[in-house]
Amino acid sequence: MERKDFIKTTLGLGLGIIATSNPFKAFGNNDYLVPDEMLPINGKYELPKLNYAYNALEPYIDAQTMEIHYTKHHQAYITKLNEGLSKDPNAIQKSLESLFLDLDKQSKELIPVLRNHGGGHWNHSFFWEQLKVGTAVGPNFQALAIKSFGSIEMFWNTFTKMASSIFGSGWCWVILQNGQLKIVNTPNQENPLMNAPKAAKDKIKIVIGLDVWEHAYYLKYQNKRVDYINSFWNVINWEVVENRII
Ligand SMILES: [Fe+2]
Repeated sequence: MERKDFIKTTLGLGLGIIATSNPFKAFGNNDYLVPDEMLPINGKYELPKLNYAYNALEPYIDAQTMEIHYTKHHQAYITKLNEGLSKDPNAIQKSLESLFLDLDKQSKELIPVLRNHGGGHWNHSFFWEQLKVGTAVGPNFQALAIKSFGSIEMFWNTFTKMASSIFGSGWCWVILQNGQLKIVNTPNQENPLMNAPKAAKDKIKIVIGLDVWEHAYYLKYQNKRVDYINSFWNVINWEVVENRII
């Protein structure tokens, strides 16, 4: 199976896949498991395995931040998500993607669990997957960036401006919709799946996501958020991005 078949975190796919006993599939090599459609295993979500060391993203993302971010922050979202889902036997049968898309139809107890901790787990899993030093922008993304923004430089200028504008904690996303790249921000642990216009579900793909919480950068960059955002360019795994847009 080709790699692109593994990475289909699209809105449309979230609706169409039938759950299997093993919701995780190998990505790139067998050591890196990434959710294709995220479902709990035996009723519990777990940290996805990283295929790189904590110091692999130095000097752009430091090892201490990576370790704390992954083992403490991400794990805390998973723990609280599991606690919340354990009280809802129906929801635990569904993928996170399908629950996000129908967020407004969930119980009032479950909505904040999904919005905060479900989003925290999904967003961070998506984030880790796309990090690697030393890859080059691929031809598909380059063509879309030129079509949508005029040039790669203008795309990046817009991205840094948007990410910098987040007030408090949130995420900056690049999505593909109707053949155009767009940049959108979401607050806290929300993501574009939660705010998707229903009519356009099958036309949106999430391509890139940047964690703009202080916990993602404060140890190294302190209050210099723009330096963190600019450093992100150096750790985007463009091979993953290419596969996300195919
Ligand atoms: Fe984070």
